[in-house]
Amino acid sequence: MLPYLTDLYGNASSLHSFGRDAAAALDEAHYTVGCAIGARASEVIFTGCGTESDNLALRGVMLALRQAGSPRRTMLSAATEHHAIEATAHQLQQLFGFESALLPVDEHGWVDPADVRRILDARPNEIGLVSVMMANNEVGTLQSIEEIGALCRARGVYLHTDAVQCPAYLPIDVNALNIDLMSLSSHKFYGPKGVGVLYLRDGVPYVSTATGGGHERDRRAGTVNVAGAVATATALKLVSKRRETEARRLTALRDRLIAGVLERVPDAMLTGHPTRRLPHHTSFAFKGIDGETLLMALDIEGIAVSTGSACTSGSPEPSPVLLAMGIPAEWALGGLRITLGYGTTQAEIDTVLDTLPACVGRVRASVDFELRTPA
Ligand SMILES: Cc1ncc(COP(=O)(O)O)c(C=O)c1O
Repeated sequence: MLPYLTDLYGNASSLHSFGRDAAAALDEAHYTVGCAIGARASEVIFTGCGTESDNLALRGVMLALRQAGSPRRTMLSAATEHHAIEATAHQLQQLFGFESALLPVDEHGWVDPADVRRILDARPNEIGLVSVMMANNEVGTLQSIEEIGALCRARGVYLHTDAVQCPAYLPIDVNALNIDLMSLSSHKFYGPKGVGVLYLRDGVPYVSTATGGGHERDRRAGTVNVAGAVATATALKLVSKRRETEARRLTALRDRLIAGVLERVPDAMLTGHPTRRLPHHTSFAFKGIDGETLLMALDIEGIAVSTGSACTSGSPEPSPVLLAMGIPAEWALGGLRITLGYGTTQAEIDTVLDTLPACVGRVRASVDFELRTPA
C-alpha cells in the first residue's frame, strides 16, 4: 500500500501522468483479483467494503430487471444471511416495491438445494435474483453454491453469493461455482479494512446505485481507493499461496477446540455443520447464559471472541441466525463464535480449553445469583 499513499499518490481518474500511473496500478489490481477468482479484470469492481458490495449487487440487479421490463420482481435469500443482505432485501421490499422471499435452513444452517428448486419452480418468472452466502459468518456452515447456481442458471435466475468469509481458506472459481455476482471484503483475507470487491459477471443486468462519476466502468461512482485495491489484490495473491496448508492446519486445531469444548463444558452445543464448515471457524451455544456476558468474561482473560446476539438497550436478544436454525431461545442467547487465523497456535487452543469452562461456570453462577436476588 505504502507507495500509493506516498510517492504514487495520483488519482486513477486523473488524466495526467500521476493519474495514469495510479490507473495502471488499479488495472493490474483488477486483473490480479480476476485471476484469483476465475474472472475477467473487467468483471471486478472495487468497493468500500463487503456490505457495500452486497448492497450494490442486490439493488443493482433488481432495479436493472425492472428497468428492462422483466416480470421477475422477487428476490430470494437464505434465512441466515448477514445483515448486509437481510436489511437490503428488506429495504427493496419496503421502499422499492419488490418482493423478498426466504429460503429455509436446516438445523445446521444449510440451505437444501431441493428447496431452491422447489421455490423457483413454484414461482416461474417471479424470482429474478437468489442470494445465498457461501459460508455463514456466525455458524461457519458452507452452502452448496455450485448446485444452487446450476438450478438458478437453468431457470434464467441470477445468483449472488456473499463470500466474505471464504477467500483465505477456500478456493473460489466463479465459473465452476455458477456464480453471477459475488461480494468480498479485503480485511477477511488479511487486506486492509474498508475495501471490498464486487464480482459482476459480464452480461448480468445491473445498474449502479452508487451514482455520480463514471468510476469502475460506470458501475460504482466514487474515487477508487488505489492503495486499498492494490493491497486487496496482493492479499488475495498471498492467501492463495498459503490456503491449502493453513486450511489443513486450522481444520485440525478447529476440531481439537470443538471436541474439547463439548467435552469440558456442560450444556454446550456446537452450532453450524459439524464438518461442512469453514476451516477456521467454531461456534457454540451455551444453555442459560447470554453470549455477551461470556464474551466479556473471556476478554478479561485475553481471549477475543464474538457472539451473534445483539444487545439493545440492555436486554440481550437471541441470534436470529440461531433461531432460524430452530435452536431454542434459551440456547440461542448464549451463542459464541471463536475463530482462528494464521497466528493461532495449538498452545492458544489449549489455553482457551483451560479457561472457557471456568468462565462459563462463573457466568452461569452469576445468572443464578441474579435470579435468586430480588430486584
Ligand atoms: C458474511 C459477511 N458479509 C458481509 C460482511 C460485511 O463486510 P464489511 O465489514 O466489509 O462491510 C461481513 C463482515 O463481517 C460478513 O461476515
